[in-house]
Amino acid sequence: MALLPILQYPDPRLHIVAAPVTRFDEELQRLVRDMAETMYAAPGVGLSATQVDVHRQVIVIDVSDGRDALQVFINPVLLEGWGESGLEEGCLSVPGVYDQVPRYERVRIEARDARGERFELEVDGLMSVCVQHEMDHLKGRVFVEYLSRLKQTRIASRMRKQQRRAG
Ligand code: NI
Repeated sequence: MALLPILQYPDPRLHIVAAPVTRFDEELQRLVRDMAETMYAAPGVGLSATQVDVHRQVIVIDVSDGRDALQVFINPVLLEGWGESGLEEGCLSVPGVYDQVPRYERVRIEARDARGERFELEVDGLMSVCVQHEMDHLKGRVFVEYLSRLKQTRIASRMRKQQRRAG
């Protein structure tokens, strides 16, 4: 297993659109394990392959208190969404920034697991927001891009400063 470096906003590679997974092979299993380890270590509740510079449709999520309920979504598709969530969200690629953006309160999604088995799931609350947030990453979209231009400019300049300080 390995910890993977997480791309930091405004890295342009966060805008690459991920391709669907076609082979559910050992390499994919390794990617899923490494992504899970990276997410738990960060620590975070969700991570997309885009954020570790792998541009394939893979997401790992664990919103459980015990950090023992890993969920893997490969090639996820939003089937239906209802209501409006009022939850603030954050992102491992934009540390220190928390804000509310338009999300469904409840969603039904279709995806495949790490073995390629298709499943459908209906989720709400934090899990719903998390799935939508990570699915956006696969489309090359970071949550702060829903915010005003002014906020985005401030966040990008703060991030660049932090990155310079970190060397
Ligand atoms: Ni994120």
